Amino acid sequence: MGNKNNIEIIEIGPRDGFQNVTEFIPTEKKKEIIERLIEAGVKRMQLTSFVSPKHIPQMQDAEEIVKYFINKYKDIRFFALVPNYRGAKRAFDIGLREITYVISVSEGHNRANVNRSVDESFEELKKIIEEFPEMYVNLDAATVFGCPFDGEVTYDQVEQYVKKAVDIGITTINLCDTIGVANPEQVKKVVENLLIKFPNIEFHIHIHDTRNMGMLNSYVAIESGIKHIQASIGGMGGCPFAPGASGNLSTEDFIYMLDKIKVDTGIDFEKLLSVAKECKKTIPGVYSGHHINIDENLICSF
Ligand code: COA
Ligand code: ZN
Repeated sequence: MGNKNNIEIIEIGPRDGFQNVTEFIPTEKKKEIIERLIEAGVKRMQLTSFVSPKHIPQMQDAEEIVKYFINKYKDIRFFALVPNYRGAKRAFDIGLREITYVISVSEGHNRANVNRSVDESFEELKKIIEEFPEMYVNLDAATVFGCPFDGEVTYDQVEQYVKKAVDIGITTINLCDTIGVANPEQVKKVVENLLIKFPNIEFHIHIHDTRNMGMLNSYVAIESGIKHIQASIGGMGGCPFAPGASGNLSTEDFIYMLDKIKVDTGIDFEKLLSVAKECKKTIPGVYSGHHINIDENLICSF
């Protein structure tokens, strides 16, 4: 049984959740939800993304959100997602010193998501690391457990990808089940092998809940040695281009489970639940709780 001390929950709702909402959420509303997440005890959070506003208009207020929070809360670890050099520069210029850069393990998805080959994305990542040495760069490894375009992703592919990232200086890698197709045995195998092979790398896990496997797969990840779990308030998340694609592991459900097994993360379940309710009430298209999805179209492009 894995050691369950020092489990950290990383809240990603303000990015992965909000980006999936078509109607623009007023910046003040986003700020209010983020403030309430902090109030509930969240200590590490993905605030937004510096992407092309043409591709994801919801994230067009990235500068304003980041500026507000990094100045106000010095003890919270904030970061934002970037898909390219341009995004990294925007983040740096506004004063953010931690980002996550996204590259898929599979070619098909990387092309669809960021319009680049995997090699081109790695080249750009190298440039970011070289040009912004003060920036802490996490890497989001998308499609670790399967790709909507290329299908199966093997453990060997994942290991080679991780090796490439480590060779250019990456120390934190987020293993993403981008479309929610992971199964517990696969999670166990991938996590256990990577932890043995790369003992100095901080691995995170990011599971989509398409078939209600988010809780199980994230729990198995912990049992296999993962210490950092990404989760989204209200289970928000998914893909703006795939109606029916389901959300993320919901933070409140996961905290509830951790409370029951006496794992203290410093996050207050009751407060979190009230934030989830607020999201459900005020953000169009948000569901909370279980995400069993009966729509046929479950393919999420990221
Ligand atoms: N921030 C703001 N604008 C950006 C940008 C960024 N990081 N990157 C590109 N742009 C702008 C360009 O200036 C250009 O604008 P223009 O048409 O007015 O000249 C436009 O976006 C297209 O730029 P281009 O370099 O041709 O990009 P692209 O069309 O090949 O798209 C990405 C590449 C990465 C910008 C785009 O695919 C993207 O933003 N993807 C988001 C992926 C994402 O967030 N996925 C979810 C998380 S995994
Ligand atoms: Zn996601």
